Amino acid sequence: MTATADSWSPESWQQRPALQQPNYPDAARLQSALDRLAALPPIVTSWEIEDLKKRLAAAQAGRGFVLQGGDCAESFTECTSPRIVGQLKILLQMSVVMTAGMKRPVTRIGRMAGQYAKPRSADLEERGDDSLPSYRGDLVNRQPFTSADREPDPELLLRGYERAALTLNFVRGLIDGGFADLHHPENWDLDFVSHSSSADKYHSIVQKVRDGLDFFESISERPIHEARRVDFFAAHEGLHLHYEQAQTRHLEHRHGWYNLTTHFPWIGLRTAHPEGAHVEFFRGIENPIGVKVGEALDKDHLQELVRRLNPDNEPGRLALIHRLGAERVAEALPQMIEAVRETGIDVLWICDPMHGNTESTSSGFKTRRFENIASELDTAFRVHRDHGSRLGGVHLELTGEHVTECTGGPRGLTEHDLTRDYRSTVDPRLNYDQAMEIALQIAGQP
Ligand code: PEP
Ligand code: CO
Repeated sequence: MTATADSWSPESWQQRPALQQPNYPDAARLQSALDRLAALPPIVTSWEIEDLKKRLAAAQAGRGFVLQGGDCAESFTECTSPRIVGQLKILLQMSVVMTAGMKRPVTRIGRMAGQYAKPRSADLEERGDDSLPSYRGDLVNRQPFTSADREPDPELLLRGYERAALTLNFVRGLIDGGFADLHHPENWDLDFVSHSSSADKYHSIVQKVRDGLDFFESISERPIHEARRVDFFAAHEGLHLHYEQAQTRHLEHRHGWYNLTTHFPWIGLRTAHPEGAHVEFFRGIENPIGVKVGEALDKDHLQELVRRLNPDNEPGRLALIHRLGAERVAEALPQMIEAVRETGIDVLWICDPMHGNTESTSSGFKTRRFENIASELDTAFRVHRDHGSRLGGVHLELTGEHVTECTGGPRGLTEHDLTRDYRSTVDPRLNYDQAMEIALQIAGQP
């Protein structure tokens, strides 16, 4: 432990520069909301968190793989049954394909049940002569460009926490109720359109998985319960530190502090400075944690980050989620791997092939090209292999719906198609076919 480690407390981050935090106009109203938030029951338990840490440790050691995905941002109006079911289905389908191909258990983690706060490039948004606080996600303020809507409202912290709980409650119900039973993957069929090039491949993999289960059960004469049920965990960017702090508890039976808003919080690239408030907060919690890393972080900072966040070299504790872009990954990733190796600390490497490949079309659509996403991922697998390292997971922005937000993929979407069904108000997501194609690509890795 370092000298500063002793002085950690759930509020010690407040002594550090905290980027991307809203400016609440009324401190007493904020405190009242936080007190009520802290009094609510937790969304997740420390048992689940420790279970996830073991799975992440296995992925780090090459005995598993992590599939983390969901919307860039959740919204309060989309806390609906179809959206939650859709996200669960696409992640389940992808994981079956990946497990069958990689012959390793795949741990599913949804970017959901709390993904309500977003970093912004400016505190203020200007429109004409007007200037108002930027929209920072439904946890903070509201999207319409009026001063009442844009004023950060602490009551939204409670509304967000409640929706996060509703979301995870429904996910747990579906999983416990047999929806995710591996014998019945037909439950998860999203309307898989016949001309998708991946449909046949998917159905033949599913049949193989089913035959495999039948074979095991016939020789052991009992159902393999362990294999029937799938696991599912929740993750969000731990951006709003008052929200994260409010549900961080000291658990006597475990001797540590757990952030019970989610299983796997991550620090975004913009708030990953080793001296900053986010790193200070995250270093003291027992959850497995992720950090988005890119070229903005130089070698010294990267090494300091790893030392601060995983000083005891605990397996499954720290995931570095690299997002370098298709053009830069081959050159930048080896240096990153080497820098971390020099610290002597092991991490789980996860590739986010989305956030380094964002661009704008001439007509102003924020988009990503499927071929860049696929290429960054492919290169990441290869670079890790070539450098004696291992890619242990993937982090995607995706949806089970047939949106048109990223170009390319099985149906060859063009820029022109983006006008047809572009729904995201933040980053562009892979649609159903594009996401399945990525799963098949991962399944085919040597
Ligand atoms: C995100 O995951 O939506 C995000 C903002 O990522 P990054 O921190 O890598 O920009
Ligand atoms: Co995003």
